[in-house]
Amino acid sequence: MTTPLSGRDLLALSDLTPSEVSLVLDTALAQKASWAAGDHSAPLSGRAAALIFQKPSMRTRVSFEVGCARLGVTPVVLVGEGSAFSRGETVADTTSVLERYVDAIVIRTFDQSFVAEIADVASVPVVNALTDDYHPCQGLADLLTIREHKGALDALRFAYVGDGNNMAHTYLLAGALTGMDVAIATPAGFEPKAHIVAQAREIASETGADISIGIDPIAAVDGADVVATDTWASMGQEEEHAARIAAFAGFAVNPALMAEAADGAVFMHCLPAHRGEEVLDEVIDAPYSIVYDEAENRLHAQKALLSLLMG
Ligand code: CP
Ligand code: NVA
Repeated sequence: MTTPLSGRDLLALSDLTPSEVSLVLDTALAQKASWAAGDHSAPLSGRAAALIFQKPSMRTRVSFEVGCARLGVTPVVLVGEGSAFSRGETVADTTSVLERYVDAIVIRTFDQSFVAEIADVASVPVVNALTDDYHPCQGLADLLTIREHKGALDALRFAYVGDGNNMAHTYLLAGALTGMDVAIATPAGFEPKAHIVAQAREIASETGADISIGIDPIAAVDGADVVATDTWASMGQEEEHAARIAAFAGFAVNPALMAEAADGAVFMHCLPAHRGEEVLDEVIDAPYSIVYDEAENRLHAQKALLSLLMG
């Protein structure tokens, strides 16, 4: 069965149109319900997917492996130095061989350009499982979670406080594509990349989302329905950790900041969280924190995504 996304790649959320994002979310909701109701059919039985990790992962790896298993797809995990794209082999050679074995390539790596290079060669779908610039699978899971908890996305205000990193970029595009207002507050010097902000604003001009970028956490969170943050030192920035803790003083999500949000606001974090740094225990453990629902939805969102791309 072909789908509107058959054979496509997901390198960033901007690879999808607003209606395609809705299709992924609708599919995920339907599959989540039917799995819970006992429908354990495996629609992609006999297929295989390579899951390549050039950075650490727990959630992404486990949710992709389990999601593949539920679809009937054999996951082939390639981790660490020497497993893929190594030993001096060209990206084109590795990719051209891989696609003789597998029906999709999921990769977590550093440079976005590396994922793009693989996708240029591959005739099978390529999925970005996190790069320095984007984390689109997390973005889809987060949209799914927000929809479940707060309803129609285009009526919502989303605030992100912290580093202008891959998650900030992903939320900018997620809001722009769904009509959800996004307000981002980072310390000066840690803003999201200007070209991604510009792209989000261009998409937002079609959907009606308001995109605001600033340096005041209270202004960003004021009246927000969702408040999110992420680590201040992403994978690859470990040596900057101490300097970043100093630079991000005043940007922790604490109960006082949450009090600026709308009544009924929820807290989100892609995890892993650094408790006592970007978020305090009182927030991440509060009844309004939906971080474990968010983590669970990685499985449902990626399963839907793979069934649409590989279908
Ligand atoms: N949120 C997320 O991607 O978690 P992992 O780094 O554990 O995969
Ligand atoms: N910004 C974080 C996200 C981890 C899921 C990182 O890239 O390390």
